[in-house]
Amino acid sequence: MTKPDAPPSLKQATLDAIGYVCEEISPKDLEQDQVNAVLTAVVQGMNHVENSSGVRLAAVKALYNALDFAETNFQNESERNYIMKVVCETAISKEADIRKAAFECLVSIASTYYDLLEPYMQTLFELTANAARADEEQVALQAIEFWSTICDEEVAIQEDAEESGDVSSACHFHFIEKALPLLVPMLLETLLKQEEDQDEDDGIWNISMAGGTCLGLVATAVKDAIVPLVMPFIEGNITKPDWHSREAATFAFGSILEGPSVEKLAPLVHAGFDFLLNATKDQNNHVRETTAWALSRAFEFLHSPTSGVSVVTNANLPHVIEIMLTSIKDSPNVAEKICGALYFLALGYENAGSMSSVLSPYFGQLVSALLATADRSDSNNSRLCASAYETLNEIVRCSSIADTLNMIVLLLQEILKRLNQTFEFQITSSEDKEKQSDLQALLCGVVQVILQKFSNCDDKSVIIQFADQIMVLFLRVFSCDSSNVHEEAMLAIGALAYATGPEFVKYMPEFHKYLEMGLQNFGAYQVCCVSVGVVADICRALDDEVLPYCDAIMSALLKDLSSPELHRSVKPPILSCIGDIALTIGEHFEKYVPYTVPMLQGAAELCSRMDLPDDDSTEYKNELRRSIFEAYSGILQGVKNSKSELMVPYASHIFQFAELVLRETSRYS
Ligand SMILES: *[C@@H]1O[C@H](CO)[C@@H](O)[C@H](O)[C@H]1NC(C)=O
Ligand SMILES: *[C@@H]1O[C@H](CO)[C@@H](O)[C@H](O)[C@H]1NC(C)=O
Ligand SMILES: *[C@@H]1O[C@H](CO)[C@@H](O)[C@H](O)[C@H]1NC(C)=O
Ligand SMILES: *[C@@H]1O[C@H](CO)[C@@H](O)[C@H](O)[C@H]1NC(C)=O
Ligand SMILES: *[C@@H]1O[C@H](CO)[C@@H](O)[C@H](O)[C@H]1NC(C)=O
Ligand SMILES: *[C@@H]1O[C@H](CO)[C@@H](O)[C@H](O)[C@H]1NC(C)=O
Ligand SMILES: *[C@@H]1O[C@H](CO)[C@@H](O)[C@H](O)[C@H]1NC(C)=O
Repeated sequence: MTKPDAPPSLKQATLDAIGYVCEEISPKDLEQDQVNAVLTAVVQGMNHVENSSGVRLAAVKALYNALDFAETNFQNESERNYIMKVVCETAISKEADIRKAAFECLVSIASTYYDLLEPYMQTLFELTANAARADEEQVALQAIEFWSTICDEEVAIQEDAEESGDVSSACHFHFIEKALPLLVPMLLETLLKQEEDQDEDDGIWNISMAGGTCLGLVATAVKDAIVPLVMPFIEGNITKPDWHSREAATFAFGSILEGPSVEKLAPLVHAGFDFLLNATKDQNNHVRETTAWALSRAFEFLHSPTSGVSVVTNANLPHVIEIMLTSIKDSPNVAEKICGALYFLALGYENAGSMSSVLSPYFGQLVSALLATADRSDSNNSRLCASAYETLNEIVRCSSIADTLNMIVLLLQEILKRLNQTFEFQITSSEDKEKQSDLQALLCGVVQVILQKFSNCDDKSVIIQFADQIMVLFLRVFSCDSSNVHEEAMLAIGALAYATGPEFVKYMPEFHKYLEMGLQNFGAYQVCCVSVGVVADICRALDDEVLPYCDAIMSALLKDLSSPELHRSVKPPILSCIGDIALTIGEHFEKYVPYTVPMLQGAAELCSRMDLPDDDSTEYKNELRRSIFEAYSGILQGVKNSKSELMVPYASHIFQFAELVLRETSRYS
């Protein structure tokens, strides 16, 4: 980069290489003079005067990757001023891809160097506002992302300050609050940029979605202050003949519901709620979809039956339900959002005391509507089917079992019938196979929720009555191989074991091999993890009767522990699970002690050697240590009555480990 006669192609390749290297290494790998050299090369590249846009683009991209290293340089005012000047100049280059890359740098600077930004905010506001208003979409999106990032930073600062109780010392510049009068109109303008005939399910991130998301983050950051700024836009546009205006106003309404206080929102919502319910009949599909989404946001944030201020009251509930049942038959995109709304409507009644049976009279109708929605064939959108089942789960979970028991039994029969039908699908392609296993996973999920619901009942007769049929179907699901389905079916079997208790023993001769397969599934480590959880459920259900299966289970678990391939997150649950087994089988654990204790010692040693570069690692280390203690506790309690001498040889090691943990300052719990 310092050779004056190097051709542009060589410079570009050099900058690409610098960028890739910076992307891979971490700040502690470079000395400050190396960082300086990198920044010098990059800034030279960005200032490249010859008409080689390739060099400048490579330079901005390299800068993006080098920003993390530039801490010292950002702390130095004159260097920082220079870097910011070059980036801001690059953000108005004539090539769109260079402008986009420059805004990406600004987004990253906003999150990495938030506390150094103040002197530049005026300039940055102008740059981003111009880009958001008039630039090409790929550039405008980054300009909006800049503000979303500032919101994230300020929300995090507020949360940290509230958590620590120290609000005064927080480094909080209130950029959003200060920019509010200009920022909000800029964002509202983006909401009006809907495309005329967008592809329904393309799901591509676009300017109006980015603007709405940013508006939502602004509301979270500044809370009440946003309401008066957005209200006139909503009121002025929600009845306009042009659907773009109505859709934008509804989107704005839904976006600001999280953050401001319920009191501040009350007038808006009380005026708007009936209006929204009516707008589910709007002639425009996009407006209806956004309306359904706004309703789900209203149910999510403003529906708490016991609080006295709630959008849904006993008086309007019948009307609300009627609207939901009608709109769920609307086109698939609207129906999907209505499922979301029903989800939050049901959730609001969870733990609502005497109010929790308010939905009971509608339970049957809602369940039928959701089952019919899941079955719809007018959409290739698999999200609709998934949302319908997920909402069904929530409605079952939050229902009052005393009122709905009989209907849930009928639902269980229906779900088992559907699960049985999946085995008759014509499978001719891998797509068919995927469809089948996705549906099986959803259905297993519903069965799991129903079993959990029943396991809270005193009367186990219903479960016992269906257990055989459920188990037959689940075992068939296992015999279709797909890691995804195994996970859901495993979870559901855990629920079945928990619900049936000792009766579960009769399924073990068939089931144990799938359990062992699950425990050995290194590839899909979630399946392995879920299987470990099921072992714990089974120990609790079977008690001593689990003994005949313990050799195989323990051997799989110990193999897991010593396998370097298995994702580390599964190891703590395995240690806790070994504790559960020991507690369950008591003195019979004796034969596993010589294999298990060295594993625990190894894990303890691993903890003491662990490098802790970040919070994640610290958390993992604590989790691992907690699970080592759980394993020791399980073993000690299991052997204490008849075989207490077994653990004596290991006592000093356990003490050492406990002492080490107690002394350490960074332990959290
Ligand atoms: C600048 O671009 C023109 C036309 O693309 C080309 O002829 C000229 O050689 C370029 N100059 C440099 C220094 O690369
Ligand atoms: C800041 O950087 C400039 C230019 O690199 C240097 O001359 C100056 O000494 C630095 N200031 C401090 C306080 O380090
Ligand atoms: C962005 O996508 C959403 C959902 O697909 C759509 O409603 C909206 O009109 C799109 N906006 C633009 C500007 O493309
Ligand atoms: C409604 O939207 C238009 C853009 O179509 C905007 O200029 C106007 O300010 C909005 N109305 C109100 C009352 O805010
Ligand atoms: C909703 O529609 C009903 C019937 O069409 C009408 O009477 C009512 O005034 C409308 N409410 C609002 C807020 O627009
Ligand atoms: C679903 O997709 C298939 C094949 O891609 C297509 O033939 C069919 O028309 C689509 N159905 C709907 C309702 O979009
Ligand atoms: C599945 O369906 C078949 C008939 O299609 C029936 O014979 C069988 O009993 C069903 N199995 C279960 C477990 O429900």
